[in-house]
Amino acid sequence: MKPKSPSTPTKPCACEGTSRRGFFFKLGIGINVVAGSLLAVPIIGYVFSSFRRQAPGQWIPLGALDQFPAGTTRLATYRNPITRPWDGKTGDIPCWVRSMEGGKFQVFAINCAHLGCPVRWFEQSRLFLCPCHGGAYYEDGSRASGPPPRGLFEYEYKVEEGKLLVKGGFIPTLAQPLSKS
Ligand code: FES
Repeated sequence: MKPKSPSTPTKPCACEGTSRRGFFFKLGIGINVVAGSLLAVPIIGYVFSSFRRQAPGQWIPLGALDQFPAGTTRLATYRNPITRPWDGKTGDIPCWVRSMEGGKFQVFAINCAHLGCPVRWFEQSRLFLCPCHGGAYYEDGSRASGPPPRGLFEYEYKVEEGKLLVKGGFIPTLAQPLSKS
């Protein structure tokens, strides 16, 4: 019978360290995958947003015709068709609606043609006045005085089924010959 050998020193088991290292390695990969996915969502959304975006220049109702009696100029608001749900109130675009005799209208962008400040309508003087640098416009949107180089920007409109509709979804710029100067 073979004599029992004295107990040999046991090697430290590497399996515990390896498994812990493996666990943290996998955890690190998992965290990176999650973080990468979270970062990718807005980037992919941005890249594909141009494909999803609705075409500008949609007809948007401003309200029933009886909201704009002849001889008045009133503020109206439409919802920008290319906004996102999280845009909130910034997606509401104000405009001035001038209602004339014979069912004719003019719909002006609220922004001054100088540097874009919102103009206000003054019934007594029948002028649009800009609070920023004193620009003034006549009631037909043409330039009256001050620094604006031209008249107010004007939207296309149409009347359909008793409603006034405006062609919105774009920002009027100097490139668009929309109003009288
Ligand atoms: S922004 Fe209106 S006059 Fe300058």
